[in-house]
Amino acid sequence: MSVILAIESSCDETSVAICNNGKITANVIANQTIHQNYGGVIPELASRVHQQNIVPVIQQALNDAKVNKKELNAVAFTQGPGLLGSLLVGVSFAKSFALALDLPLISVNHMHAHILAHFIDDPMPQFPFICLTVSGGHTQIVVIRSHFDMEIVGETLDDAAGEAFDKTAKILNLPYPGGPLIDKYAKEGNPLAYKFGEPQIKDLNYSFSGFKTSILYFIRNQEKENPNFVSEHLHDICASVQHSIVHILLNKLKKAAKQYGIKEIAIAGGVSANSGLRAGLTALAEELNWNVYIPAFEYCTDNAAMIAIAGYYKYLNKDFVEQDVAPLSRMEF
Ligand code: KG4
Ligand code: ZN
Repeated sequence: MSVILAIESSCDETSVAICNNGKITANVIANQTIHQNYGGVIPELASRVHQQNIVPVIQQALNDAKVNKKELNAVAFTQGPGLLGSLLVGVSFAKSFALALDLPLISVNHMHAHILAHFIDDPMPQFPFICLTVSGGHTQIVVIRSHFDMEIVGETLDDAAGEAFDKTAKILNLPYPGGPLIDKYAKEGNPLAYKFGEPQIKDLNYSFSGFKTSILYFIRNQEKENPNFVSEHLHDICASVQHSIVHILLNKLKKAAKQYGIKEIAIAGGVSANSGLRAGLTALAEELNWNVYIPAFEYCTDNAAMIAIAGYYKYLNKDFVEQDVAPLSRMEF
């Protein structure tokens, strides 16, 4: 029997989940809307809001799962990577909570957890599988051989895929975070209206900083001719940008699958909520005979359910940490 409470606070979502014998029975997420006013996450504000949210979110999760804190067997928490001040709130709370209830502590790597979200519900991928993890801070191609044997075989050399979406959205004067809005407007646009160059990067790595700059220059040039270019062509611009980003992401994923001879393919992280990426992957599955695994929307962006499921597998291995554990803004994979 195991009832695990898990805390995620690495960026701007305060989230708490409960995992009862491998099944998620609560997953409460408090989003921080305050950052929309600033066009990006302000670390200092994020920590303060985590501090306000953490106790009510814990209480809500316990209520949703109908669990008394005395029934818990362990406390799992995101140790990193992430914003240090944000992590500090979750890690400190987890430590105090575990100390007060005399429970073991489980440290979870946020990037491992995005991948392990595939073990929350059926169908689950078979080992070995490849996961493209695309979030606001990371873009990685990972080969997963067992729950905790993971190898990064490709990654971005600069911006993450989520940043490519969010920075494009900023150029288009859309509010933060712009990724979901680009997705929304893209649905009514022509993905082939405009063409953006594909970065020529070696191996299985990515680069999105030049891509973002090419969009900036494209928009500037168009606006010289027509100052209303963006508002008049917003849907086509969003559809074309999304089409290009998805094309870049999937091309390297195809290369990785071929190189490693693996047909079990998953996506994870905030950008895996993107409808273009989900559709593109589904089409590739047909073409290349892949089994693809696409997370439910609630498990794409940051959430504590993924921390809880990672914590569950660590609990089975009795992989615990001591009270001197500290958050890590950069954490070894
Ligand atoms: O995994 P996540 O919630 O946080 C990090 O760990 O970074 O990912 C957030 C990122 C943001 O860049 C956001 O714009 C992007 O995921 N995102 C999307 C969509 N939903 C979230 N990007 C494109 N299309 C979406 N539907
Ligand atoms: Zn994340």
